[in-house]
Amino acid sequence: PSAATAHEPLPKAELHLHIEGTLEPELAFALAARNGVELPYATEDELRRAYSFADLQSFLNLYYALMAVLRTEDDFADLAHAYLARAKEQGVRHAEIFFDPQAHTARGVPIGTVINGLARALDSAPETYGISTRLIMCFLRDESAGSALTTFEAARPYFDRITAVGLDSAEVGHPPSKFKEVFALAREAGLKCVAHAGEEGPPAYVWEALDVLGVDRIDHGVRSLEDERLVARLVADQVPLTVCPLSNVRLRVIDDLADHPLPAMLDAGLLVTVNSDDPAYFGGYADDNFTAVRDALGLDPDTLRTLARNSFRASFLDEATRARYL
Ligand code: ADE
Ligand code: ZN
Repeated sequence: PSAATAHEPLPKAELHLHIEGTLEPELAFALAARNGVELPYATEDELRRAYSFADLQSFLNLYYALMAVLRTEDDFADLAHAYLARAKEQGVRHAEIFFDPQAHTARGVPIGTVINGLARALDSAPETYGISTRLIMCFLRDESAGSALTTFEAARPYFDRITAVGLDSAEVGHPPSKFKEVFALAREAGLKCVAHAGEEGPPAYVWEALDVLGVDRIDHGVRSLEDERLVARLVADQVPLTVCPLSNVRLRVIDDLADHPLPAMLDAGLLVTVNSDDPAYFGGYADDNFTAVRDALGLDPDTLRTLARNSFRASFLDEATRARYL
């Protein structure tokens, strides 16, 4: 067997993945050339050297800047194809994929260009990559509630392609309650709801995501451990937390992977999953995250299998499909 098949990665679902965060330097330069966009980096290596982040905001600055190369339906389709090819190698069988429409519409790229381009690649994913997919439309929490509402209405013609709404970008100072109205409309429209909370923000933001937005999952949520009552609530309701270990280290949410609270979260009875967030920037895709926590935290094979099983339990797949993976 080749090296690639020597360690067959565990079948898993990816539940926390920003498609714009899968833009590798190689594709960024190719799209820049195709679209005549000037990048402020001379080479792929020079760009890669910029991937040293002090916090979430310093990452977001580069993440939004590099999106300038994404302009056409083909660009979004190529981006998603590149991700799906990587995901297949990592044992991903199902991917629930975030996108940030406002980061594109603000640059004059219509929301239909984004969704149609992504959808073209995702439609071929079961056959081409053996991966089922869902799309999650995120609102940028450092933009206004009005902008989120405008975006939500602009996306209405595409709701048959969208499974859930989410909330991302700079967390501190932008509590979930700011988006109460648009999340209520999303629920009325039959969409699922998720929100980034407790990444850099306090446990109070996780409470708000649960009680004000009514989310089905919390993205990150690692700071929940600071609040015992919150942990009890998350355990009692088995609210999934989509944890992203390599992201947490790169964005300095956690000092060292060996100190990651993942084992404590599992011990507490939380429904934890392991995910990659923005893998082009944080040094690893889904199975790379599994391998990294295995090595840094000494997780045994049973625990890794629990994490993989949790990823399907926490997914938005229908009950019958989910059961086939459990
Ligand atoms: N957008 C992309 N990655 C993000 C993260 N880790 N937190 C908040 N917003 C994001
Ligand atoms: Zn994220």
